[in-house]
Amino acid sequence: MTATAPARVGVLGGGRMGAGIAHAFVLAGSRVVVVERDGAAAGEATRRIHESLHGSVRRGTTARTPEDLVAAVDVGTDPAVFAGSGLVIEAVPEDRALKLAALRRAEAVMSADAVLASNTSSIPIDELARGLRRPGRLLGLHFFNPVPVSALVEVVLGTATDPDVGAAATEWVAALGKRAVVVRDSPGFASSRLGVALALEAIRMLEEGVASAADIDAAMELGYRHPVGPLRTTDLVGLDVRLGIAEELRATLGERFAPPGLLRDLVAAGHLGRKSGRGFYEWSDG
Ligand SMILES: NC(=O)c1ccc[n+]([C@@H]2O[C@H](COP(=O)([O-])OP(=O)(O)OC[C@H]3O[C@@H](n4cnc5c(N)ncnc54)[C@H](O)[C@@H]3O)[C@@H](O)[C@H]2O)c1
Repeated sequence: MTATAPARVGVLGGGRMGAGIAHAFVLAGSRVVVVERDGAAAGEATRRIHESLHGSVRRGTTARTPEDLVAAVDVGTDPAVFAGSGLVIEAVPEDRALKLAALRRAEAVMSADAVLASNTSSIPIDELARGLRRPGRLLGLHFFNPVPVSALVEVVLGTATDPDVGAAATEWVAALGKRAVVVRDSPGFASSRLGVALALEAIRMLEEGVASAADIDAAMELGYRHPVGPLRTTDLVGLDVRLGIAEELRATLGERFAPPGLLRDLVAAGHLGRKSGRGFYEWSDG
């Protein structure tokens, strides 16, 4: 049997990630309702989602017309529209208090058997579940940016997550044409933890003069078939972003995630990677 997406999906927060998530479910055949914080933000979200859907038509990733796709999305400011959604995904900014309030507001109008998901990149699902009346219906759905072309979603199971919720979410991810990896709620999930571990070791090797940045990256690209080496990836993600994740992982998982001095020094000097023009490499297109 082929996987199907929920008939109606709610998205809370139509920013970079929320717009991409809305896009992905529309293409999978869902009707999507997006709720923003105010009218101005709703206008911005509408523009973002429409532009993204038109992009898919231009690239030929769908045979549907732009009018048909756009008609499948409604953007507003009242969470009451989540009442008929089988799945609601929260994608508001990465702030604990904001997310807790947003999740509670969504849960209050959702039906008892609907699934609530958070797109958090770092807040434990168990922490978010504590504020809810039905913690068993919550899980993490960690999408990657840009959502429409990214092939991965981490399905993060909290201690309280009902088994049927994890199974349904895995099927919905398949309906989006993406690969689900199922992860127990733990710091950095699978992707950030492993990606940062590799990057920190590469930075330590550079610090110790083991090899040049280009040679360390080439070792992984050509020897292990990584599409992009760990130092170049860190330049693309942002050295400040990776330093922040490393500090959080050090606090929760221990000294093996202690950020190397070189990473701290580069961030302190404003060398943040591609976006600042220099990181481990020089960039002219940031
Ligand atoms: N950007 C990434 O690469 C990425 C990747 C994976 C996960 N995430 C996670 O996704 C979440 C969203 O990130 P983003 O990059 O899309 O942020 P963003 O700032 O682009 O979007 C957040 C949106 O939420 C809206 N918002 C704020 N308060 C709200 C409220 N109370 N109710 C409804 N909407 C509200 C904002 O108006 C904005 O449109 C964060 O938790 C982030 O950690 C981001």
